[in-house]
Amino acid sequence: MRVDVITIFPELFGPFLETSLIGRAIRGDLVRIDVHDLRHWTSDRHRTVDDEPYGGGGGMVMTAPPWVSAVRAVCGERRPRRILLSPQGRRLDDRRVRSLAGEGDLVLLCGRYEGIDERVRELVVDEEISIGDYVLSGGEVAAMVLIEALSRQVPGVVGLADSVRRESFRNGELDFPQYTRPREVEGLPVPEVLLSGDHEAIERWRRAQSRTRTAERRPDLQAPDDPTSKP
Ligand SMILES: C[S@@+](CC[C@H](N)C(=O)[O-])C[C@H]1O[C@@H](n2cnc3c(N)ncnc32)[C@H](O)[C@@H]1O
Repeated sequence: MRVDVITIFPELFGPFLETSLIGRAIRGDLVRIDVHDLRHWTSDRHRTVDDEPYGGGGGMVMTAPPWVSAVRAVCGERRPRRILLSPQGRRLDDRRVRSLAGEGDLVLLCGRYEGIDERVRELVVDEEISIGDYVLSGGEVAAMVLIEALSRQVPGVVGLADSVRRESFRNGELDFPQYTRPREVEGLPVPEVLLSGDHEAIERWRRAQSRTRTAERRPDLQAPDDPTSKP
């Protein structure tokens, strides 16, 4: 998987890309992530990327020319999917993560201020993605969310393939509760069945727990293969 990120704050990505699973995936050449400073594509002495909005109102808007140049330069001859992180985009979910992971080549645009001049979307953006119905100060954290979720889909990034297959949302259900040592915490024991060594009984218990949790917490989830489920 290859991801290019365009931002005015490339330094935010340093520790994120060096740590834990992502760091290992990059070092192992399973994932390639290049972070680009938008200001590289400015032409004035102050490396300006924003201006006052036409029509007035508060705040500043990111200007189109650096964005258009940056996206075109980063793409070069490639045809990556160009994604603008935006609270106005389609809300990210597990299904979209899996289909984007299949694309393998992405460019992520991280906005700031009041957002980016609308013409950037028309000229060099294929899709807008939101990570939830709230407004962040910039697209960088949203890009990190997307990168982390996508990289888990790349074979070899998560040690046990089974732990991705069984995760919440995968079969339209939440994951079952997990326990580890010690056997008792402040009077709360580990469920007896998990200590039984009876793998069939454990599997039955876990399935039942997943179903109950999903019904209680997320009754809106439906199995992805269910033909009646919404896109
Ligand atoms: C302060 S926001 C702009 C919000 C915009 N004025 C609006 O109300 O729709 C600045 C940037 O943060 C990013 N952003 C904010 N919330 C986001 C979200 N929920 N998902 C993805 N990106 C988000 C976008 O890149 C956006 O351009």
